[in-house]
Amino acid sequence: MLEIAIINGPNLNLLGKREPDVYGHASFEDFLEQLKKDFPKVNFTYFQSNIEGEIVQAIQSHGFNKNGIILNPAAYTHTSIAIGDAVAAIKTPVIEVHISNVHAREDFRKISHVSAKSVGSIVGLGLKGYALATEWFLTNSGSIQ
Ligand code: DQA
Repeated sequence: MLEIAIINGPNLNLLGKREPDVYGHASFEDFLEQLKKDFPKVNFTYFQSNIEGEIVQAIQSHGFNKNGIILNPAAYTHTSIAIGDAVAAIKTPVIEVHISNVHAREDFRKISHVSAKSVGSIVGLGLKGYALATEWFLTNSGSIQ
């Protein structure tokens, strides 16, 4: 089994209720159920927090024992040097995912403290971005560690 941790940052617990025109109508929990069905060969661990230090903690604890981390640090993407440092500190490759197209929004969303330390970034493709990141880990895991 491929082990993938999904780590979501602040306000993503409100997906489905929060600005649905930007983030869609699905809750992450419902989406995750579907993702697990679509990828039966992957064992997903899911963690969401609104607290910066807890996200650093999750990156550290999954960062040496998973095949991949799919990370959406939400607003902390644009502000958190600590989360960027955590991504740089670990062994597990990270794919950064944003549901919305951060480059088509406010200027402050164009800055990311994690992009340069990640294998790659998927932005603006909705929740599908998490599935695309999973597919990448399925076909590339092992070759980049
Ligand atoms: C987000 C984009 C961020 O700019 C924003 O603060 C979020 C969600 C996204 O997935 O599109 O909370 O990371």
